[in-house]
Amino acid sequence: MDRRQFAGQLATAVVGASLAPAGPFLHVRRTAPATLDGARLNAHLKALSAFGANPAGGVSRVAYSDFDKAGRAYVMGLMKDAGLDVSVDFAGNILGRRAGSDAVLKPIMFGSHVDSVPDGGNYDGTVGSLSAIEVAQSLQEQGIRTRHPIEVMIWANEEGGLYGSKPVSGQLKAEELKNSSWSGKTIADGMKFLGGDPTRFTDVRRQRGDIAAYIELHIEQGGTLERESLNIGVVEGIVGIRRWDVTVNGMQNHAGTTPMDQRHDAMLAAARFIEMVNRVVRAEPGRQVGTVGKLEIFPGAPNVIPGRVQCTLEMRDVDAAKVLRIFSTISKESKGIGEMNGTTFDFRPSHEDVPAMSDPAIRAIIGDAAKDLKLTTKAMPSGAGHDAQAMAQIGPMGMIFIPSMGGISHSPKEYSTPQDIERGARVLMGAVLLADKRT
Ligand code: GLV
Ligand code: MN
Ligand code: MN
Repeated sequence: MDRRQFAGQLATAVVGASLAPAGPFLHVRRTAPATLDGARLNAHLKALSAFGANPAGGVSRVAYSDFDKAGRAYVMGLMKDAGLDVSVDFAGNILGRRAGSDAVLKPIMFGSHVDSVPDGGNYDGTVGSLSAIEVAQSLQEQGIRTRHPIEVMIWANEEGGLYGSKPVSGQLKAEELKNSSWSGKTIADGMKFLGGDPTRFTDVRRQRGDIAAYIELHIEQGGTLERESLNIGVVEGIVGIRRWDVTVNGMQNHAGTTPMDQRHDAMLAAARFIEMVNRVVRAEPGRQVGTVGKLEIFPGAPNVIPGRVQCTLEMRDVDAAKVLRIFSTISKESKGIGEMNGTTFDFRPSHEDVPAMSDPAIRAIIGDAAKDLKLTTKAMPSGAGHDAQAMAQIGPMGMIFIPSMGGISHSPKEYSTPQDIERGARVLMGAVLLADKRT
């Protein structure tokens, strides 16, 4: 115990009567509300942003890269300083555990991720991760021992597709280990790189009922809270995500000698496809979205008619059936596009995250924690994917959002104010303590 922790314990001990000492913690009847150090939290965020910093002011800390590994080492150091028992599981997740006072209770889990998209920002995932560590450290310094064990989770490869949390929820399929990641490594090699063991990824699985609650703080990544001058979003549900690898097959030929009416131009068909996806997804009311975010042209030369195009299709909605229904229209219309110039479309499903609703009791806990701090709230859906949706498979889940300036995310321009970050962390702390009482 360092000087600061000792002083924290002492201060706490004098405001209430000690019930029973246990380990380094005192059980105390507190009169002062638990608190945390917002300046320290924001300093940790700044320090983490150096790992993989890009010239635009954001980070490129894609999962399984050297920067990811270095950033994780920094984070593990913070977790140890917070008095957590730190380990890396077979899927590469970092787990920081502290025992509770009641041995029969299941853990309250909270955390997020520290990997980024290519050319990403400094707040997606990191706010929730470092706030979770700050909560653990503050609880330790104030001598607050929870009844439940606490588990701070820093999930591996969230951005690539929940490759750390899906093994824990039992949703990762063995064949997905062969998928490639932005680091250039396969998922299996990436897990190994982080100290995991892909041959044993099924061992990290937890069953429904194995956790008392999962709570994740995150930036909103949209502009609603800022626009409506609100402090906290209470997430109602998280979208399901489906992705396909799309191949457009045409015929490679000479760009000078092949008349315009005799071409089987895969790129022209792909262009019509992109336009059609936008039209079909917008054709019915709702918040569903569809994106063609990646495109490769083969062979890709100015004097060659493209013979093949490889692109992605991603669709999201809280209603998984709606996504499949809209996809079936897209698939039918693709046939028609192909017939226009003698090309064909193949769709290979590459990824699925199922939608998840948050738990009403955890939503109420988050709402109450915000109310205790006199913060304004709004119930809202999440259009971004989160490890929380995997955790909803095994226990009651809730998410806390804080405002994202300009609604910008997955960009170096991503920004949340230090004050909003501190508020979010305080709500997380309040929610963990309320969950400890109520669950
Ligand atoms: C993750 O941030 C996603 O929504 O893709
Ligand atoms: Mn995220
Ligand atoms: Mn993200």
